[in-house]
Amino acid sequence: MSIAQNKETAAKLRCIACGATPDSASHDFRCTACGDLLEFFFPGWTLDPLLSDPTSLKSLWLNRRTSSHALDQSGVWRFRELLPHIPSLEEHAITLHEGNTPLYRLPRCARATGVENLHAKHQGMNPTASFKDTGMTFAASAAHQSGFRWVACASTGNTSASMAAYAARGNMHSLVLIPDGKISWGKLSQSLDYGALTCQLRTDFDGCVQILNDLVRQKPVYLLNSVNPYRIEGQKTAAIELMEQLAWEPSDHIIVPGGNLGNSSAIGKALIEMRELKLISRLPKLSIIQAQGANPFYRSVREFGGKKLEPMTADTLATAIQIGNPASWKKALRVLQATGGEVEQVTEIEIAIAKAEIGADGIGCEPASAVTLAGLKKLRRSGFVKPGEAVVLILTGHALKDPDFTIKFHRGDLFADTPAGTPDETEAAKAKYLQRAPVVLDANLGAVIAALDAAERNS
Ligand code: F0G
Repeated sequence: MSIAQNKETAAKLRCIACGATPDSASHDFRCTACGDLLEFFFPGWTLDPLLSDPTSLKSLWLNRRTSSHALDQSGVWRFRELLPHIPSLEEHAITLHEGNTPLYRLPRCARATGVENLHAKHQGMNPTASFKDTGMTFAASAAHQSGFRWVACASTGNTSASMAAYAARGNMHSLVLIPDGKISWGKLSQSLDYGALTCQLRTDFDGCVQILNDLVRQKPVYLLNSVNPYRIEGQKTAAIELMEQLAWEPSDHIIVPGGNLGNSSAIGKALIEMRELKLISRLPKLSIIQAQGANPFYRSVREFGGKKLEPMTADTLATAIQIGNPASWKKALRVLQATGGEVEQVTEIEIAIAKAEIGADGIGCEPASAVTLAGLKKLRRSGFVKPGEAVVLILTGHALKDPDFTIKFHRGDLFADTPAGTPDETEAAKAKYLQRAPVVLDANLGAVIAALDAAERNS
């Protein structure tokens, strides 16, 4: 089965390396000429009167917020003018009212970082509690439109949870490949509940990707990893929605976590396209933060000027971004350069502290999302982010995705094995003031009052 490109639409596929423009994508979504990734581009935009009128486009999108139509109630499909056209959309669209995620102020984190104008766009407030839903609604609908019975992905947990949900809603079967023992229970439980065939492979995420790539060449399953350009298009809408929330006045910086690097590519692509369409007048700097133990992109940029990427064996407690060979690194590099953003890496302890700090603002996120705040601190120290500038962190997953991490942190178990007398131990000690272990008491009023009074004295 081929994944046909609609001839009527203004969207076309193009290889990011050799520039070939195939009419349809092969099953692994790689260029058949050179093997690199494909992307959508929109040569027809210049001919469309609506797209040359930013004011009308903005008010069209705003008006849809009061519509009762399912597509208008989705924070993805509401912006469909900037997405490739899917034929017979009403019949094929699979939506769970994704998007529509809040933009929160982070007052305590603002004080801690010295950046007064600090916000978080919480993509963890999506239907399956991660940013993946915005890309999944679009790509799963494309799979449905192409008549696939099976969809599949390799995942560190969030893509699989999201894919399983959208497949279930669209009456498709889903196959999940996850690294055994390396994803959180919360995410695993989601794909089981949504009815996926869930295979835990004795390898890492990168090993799962390899097997999946071989599988899609042999079996009629539709690949839903972020090499699928429909995923990237859907994920663009987070940036469009963000600009609308900022009244189309871009922040100075947007900071995202980097794993397989699809999300940073998508947000960057949206920013560039919005500027082309004069929806915004300037580009925020898009910076990408990786965990130090899973930092191939950071090293690519810092050590090799982005000329090559050396795959590595990744190791971080932020399991969502435990990825050593990111598929979309060239796309991410392009948006990093186009927006003038920066790369940073952060340690495990920095991630854990940042996660607790975001929690203390009453928001909460999963560890991979917290790299954004940890990265912001470093970007402040290096002077890349100035105190007066406006910064938006993209929080990619909900706190309840990985409660194990949170509980271990608060009980002091997360870094309990850190060798005594090392710099790591000194670092880990810095987290103590944020730890709130549960207090086990006898069931009497006096004990609770004593605990309350002690807490008041220490507050
Ligand atoms: N944050 C979370 C919570 C994630 O789940 C992921 C990726 C990322 C950040 C990184 O985004 O890969 O686009 O750079 N999770 C994928 C998954 C790989 O399978 O769920 P990226």
